[in-house]
Parts: sequence; structure tokens; C-alpha cells
Amino acid sequence: MMNEKVTAIAIMFVGLTVPTSRVYAQDVERPTQATADTPLPDRYPYVVKDILKYCKPKKGFWIDLGAGKGQVSIPLIEETNNPVVMLDPDVEAMSKGLEIAREKGLEHRLFAVVGVAEDMPFPDNSVDLVVSRGSIFFWDDQVKGLQEVYRVLRPGGKAMIGGGQGSGYPKWAAEEFIRRRREHLNEADPKKKKHFVEVRSPETFRRWAQDAKLPSFEITGKGGLSVGDPKAGLGIWLRFTKQQK
Ligand SMILES: C[S@@+](CC[C@H](N)C(=O)[O-])C[C@H]1O[C@@H](n2cnc3c(N)ncnc32)[C@H](O)[C@@H]1O
Repeated sequence: MMNEKVTAIAIMFVGLTVPTSRVYAQDVERPTQATADTPLPDRYPYVVKDILKYCKPKKGFWIDLGAGKGQVSIPLIEETNNPVVMLDPDVEAMSKGLEIAREKGLEHRLFAVVGVAEDMPFPDNSVDLVVSRGSIFFWDDQVKGLQEVYRVLRPGGKAMIGGGQGSGYPKWAAEEFIRRRREHLNEADPKKKKHFVEVRSPETFRRWAQDAKLPSFEITGKGGLSVGDPKAGLGIWLRFTKQQK
């Protein structure tokens, strides 16, 4: 565990002076003949765009919590050149992410720490940005996880936690995504469907944030089956800033 801490902390001092490149993903046109098999545009560049727009993070120590294969971390590094530490219990997924980063020449920017949101292996007041997409729904204890995020953030540090495709994701693609998701859920066990919808609802997010005693927070998005929120598009997000002392 100590080595993991050292790896993560060491990156805080890397890359602070590297210039930022800002090439945002372009909107993808609706294909003239979209079918149920039409591949949808990559959502991650749109999520990264929202992270940068809404959090305006200070360069420094950034964590992608529940990072998986680095689907958010990698485009975030590509956009900003800031190093990112992935934290996830899934070693295999993160190894794959490191492999992808190596293929893209980003191996000096992406790091992996094995762990969980509920027990983050980082000191108090050390992190400038925590992003987490598509993960909070699977944590064992969301309230403890949010308390941990708040603990590790530096005063002024930002968090953006939730799930979705990004507010700029093309409308046709978001609608098609929801159509496919509804179809899939309608075939699922009704209990699973209920749980899926509940954990992605603004009410649940509000309860988690209040129970974690976050001093202030903002929730955007209407949930896992809606496209309508201009600030969030499809999905649900919780954002907060650590209070200055
Ligand atoms: C659906 S994947 C999301 C991956 C990636 N962030 C994305 O946006 O595509 C959910 C991830 O959350 C991770 N996860 C599950 N429980 C967790 C916990 N308690 N703390 C941190 N990550 C967790 C899983 O291992 C998995 O990699």
C-alpha cells in the first residue's frame, strides 16, 4: 500500500509546466441511415469537455476514480497533458488502460493505483481534481466514498462524479442510446431495472451528498433514461468544491 501511495504522490510533481492542448471532439453528424447496429459516437471526449468546462481544474494531482481502462483518463490527458492517477479495484482493466496509454505515447502521464473509493490511499488535502464516471453506482458505500473524496481534495479542489455522455453529445446519438438502453432494460428483471433507475436518480444523488455532509454541491442531469438536461445531457452528475479553510 505504501508503494501505491508513493507512486500516486510522486506524480503530483510531474507535468505542471507542460502546455495544454485543446482540440475538442467535433459533433458527429447523424448517419443518413441509422439502424440499431449503427455505432454511436465516442462519449468520452464530450465528458472530458464538461469536466474542463464545469470544474476548471487547477493543474496538479488528478484522480480518475473507478477509472476502468482509463476511458476518461486518457482523453483527459490528451486534452490537458496533466498526469492522471487511475484508482480502481480492477487490476486487469487498469493494466489494459496502461497498455493503451503506452501505445499512444502517454505512459509518462497515466498511473494506476489499486484501491476503492471507500478507502482512498491518499493523504488529506492532496488532490486537485477527482473525476469519476460510471462508477459510483457500483460502490459498496457511496456515502463513505464521497466523504473520502472530500477528505483527499485540497481546499479549492474539485470533484465531478456520476455518469453520462456529456452535454455536447449529439442529440440523435443520445436519443438512440436511450432507445437501446430502454429496450435492454425492458428485457431485464424488473428489480434490476428499478435499481438501475434509482441509483441514477437526482434524489438518490442528493441523499448520498447530504448523508456525506458535503457542505455544498450541485446535481445536474435527470438520470440514466433522460436526455433533456442542457448542463448534463444524458446522465446524472454531482459536483462539489472543497471549502477553503
Ligand atoms: C462501468 S465501469 C466505468 C469505467 C470508466 N470510468 C468509464 O467511464 O467507462 C465501473 C468501474 O468502477 C469500478 N468500481 C467498482 N467498485 C468500486 C469502488 N468501490 N471504488 C472504486 N471503483 C469501483 C469498477 O471496477 C469499474 O472499473
